[in-house]
Amino acid sequence: MIPDKAPKEDVFHGSGDRKKEAHIPSFDKYKELYLKSIENPDEFWGDIAKDFFWKTKHTGQFLDYNFDVTKGEIFVKCMEGASTNICYNVLDRNVHERKLGDKVAFYWEGNEPGDELTVTYRELLQRVCQFANVLKSQGVKKGDRVSIYMPMVVELVVAMLACVRIGAVHSIVFAGFSSQSLCERILDSQCSLLVTADGFYRGDKLINLKLLADEALQKCRDKGFPVHRCIMLKHLSREAEETPLVSQSPPAKRSCPGLQVPWNPEVDLCWHSLVRGASDECEPEWCESEDPLFILYTSGSTGKPKGVLHTVSGYMLYTATTFKLVFDYQPDDIYWCTADIGWITGHSYITYGPLANGATSVLFEGLPTYPDVSRMWEIVDKYHVTKFYTAPTAIRLLMKYGSEPVQKYKRESLKVLGTVGEPINPEAWQWYYTVVGEKRCPIVDTFWQTETGGHVLTPLPAATPMKPGSATFPFFGVVPAILNESGEELEGPSEGYLVFKQPWPGVMRTVYGNHQRFETIYFKKFPGYYVTGDGCRRDQDGYYWITGRIDDMLNVSGHLLSTAEVESALVEHEAIAEAAVVGRPHPVKGESLYCFVTLTDGMTFNCTLEAQLRKQVREKIGAIATPDYIQDAPGLPKTRSGKIMRRVLRKIACGERDLGDVSTLADSSVVEQLFQNRCCTAV
Ligand code: WTA
Repeated sequence: MIPDKAPKEDVFHGSGDRKKEAHIPSFDKYKELYLKSIENPDEFWGDIAKDFFWKTKHTGQFLDYNFDVTKGEIFVKCMEGASTNICYNVLDRNVHERKLGDKVAFYWEGNEPGDELTVTYRELLQRVCQFANVLKSQGVKKGDRVSIYMPMVVELVVAMLACVRIGAVHSIVFAGFSSQSLCERILDSQCSLLVTADGFYRGDKLINLKLLADEALQKCRDKGFPVHRCIMLKHLSREAEETPLVSQSPPAKRSCPGLQVPWNPEVDLCWHSLVRGASDECEPEWCESEDPLFILYTSGSTGKPKGVLHTVSGYMLYTATTFKLVFDYQPDDIYWCTADIGWITGHSYITYGPLANGATSVLFEGLPTYPDVSRMWEIVDKYHVTKFYTAPTAIRLLMKYGSEPVQKYKRESLKVLGTVGEPINPEAWQWYYTVVGEKRCPIVDTFWQTETGGHVLTPLPAATPMKPGSATFPFFGVVPAILNESGEELEGPSEGYLVFKQPWPGVMRTVYGNHQRFETIYFKKFPGYYVTGDGCRRDQDGYYWITGRIDDMLNVSGHLLSTAEVESALVEHEAIAEAAVVGRPHPVKGESLYCFVTLTDGMTFNCTLEAQLRKQVREKIGAIATPDYIQDAPGLPKTRSGKIMRRVLRKIACGERDLGDVSTLADSSVVEQLFQNRCCTAV
């Protein structure tokens, strides 16, 4: 499956210098270790596990699993019998065993240039212990779920690790999500406590986060699920005496016109007052390997988000190992991942992977375009960032402004560049490689999912010759295959469904509270395989190229959305009888939302309705789901059995007249009508 020799033509090779020090210095070494990881996983992962602290050692085989629904329940168990604590491994082990207490864990860079903080491993450990004691004093116990709805501040990492320290399960909800989305997630995972902040700025826009959190808690109450505790961090309204335990003073309090901090004394608690009296020592709770670690919601094709559940030992080993090898982490690196911790990329590659390696990272609160489009490169120079990880959508956005804003800064420190979240188009890849990395830095195009826990297809920077737009080859322990519609494995150059044949330590274990849904979504279509939902092509050299989602999912700016989720938000409006949403290619966002709406009798389509619908979707889901196009659709193209033909709608959205086979269409006249009503400009 892996080619004997790496191809020589049409590929980009990593820099020769770095090969000397690299963990995986050649394609041959990659191949050798890959074979070992597949043929002898116990030894491969066993060696890696030796670097970590285990309260008790595992017994039996490293991985035990069933991936075949026809043979019984799907399960994955990794390192059964072992017990450990991730917080201990990412903090105490670094401070006490590896003597990294004074090493910087995070350089926090705020939204406003000049707002900055430095946090060492020792300080982070103290703060996590304090907050863990706070959670305990509020009655949080092992196995309880805690919801976290916070901006990109150090306290977000503190809150998540404090949960992990006491064996509680965090469920982080991206702070860009609406109160409705937060409410749904709190209800689904039955969280007993919410941690949030007063507010934050995204560029020059103020977000009143506490207001949204309160709305969510009210909605939960209305549904008969009162959350009795809400801990609020004062991020914007912090007083001088509420200075955290950090080596530098926090950003000066500035006036924030419009900041509203509602306070409900029955439920609300102040982060700072609670922490002030808390001890900075807290014995970790030793957890079994397969104890739940966290829940993270991702869009589901039925429209109801799925609570992806990851467990302790496998996730820890996998994120630590992928971080070390994919970014070729070296002790003097300064690493920066621009994702938000509210997404899986931030969980695995801001918090767990880097901290497990004792790395120093930049934690950035702001936007790539604020106060100007040079901000990223200014930060790269300021902290001498060596490894930089971002999303194709950010690259395409910055590309529009040309190379001058990039070249204002030196970027000499950069060694490896990474991308994640969606396929990167070769043009953006070339710009990233040539303008940002000045042809010095290999690009790791990492393909993975919330469900996979960590990278599954990815180049290794000193080993894998790169092809722009290809995620190249599987990571250690991962066995991909390409299937056709009948579920047959295709050999050689081919295109079809991307699946995985066996688990790796970091794969999700279940959908929280609904194991059947987990089996149905990922394992029913092709028994014996984990189905990613992505299409994939393998070329003549064995390289994998992700072609995009093949289910009803859209990828907007690297964020997955389900069409059903947006459709159900639209039809909640009284004027809408039916809605169908498709993706339309977008030069920066990758895909944009194009919505067809059929009105209820007697309603008229106008700008006011359009604006109401946009607002409704934003409020139900969040700003990332705001439709770009809304089109009046008196009828929708359907098959005789009533199924909407989305394929046809996608063509209409793009103005493509070549519709392919439409023989199953019940009423072909609707198509012409839809072409006539097409929206040509987005809002
Ligand atoms: C897409 C993000 C092509 C893919 C880590 C996947 C990618 C979905 C890549 C998961 C990549 C992610 N190339 N497509 N390098 N990385 N995707 O769960 O469609 O937010 O299934 O996890 O993003 O999105 P999720």
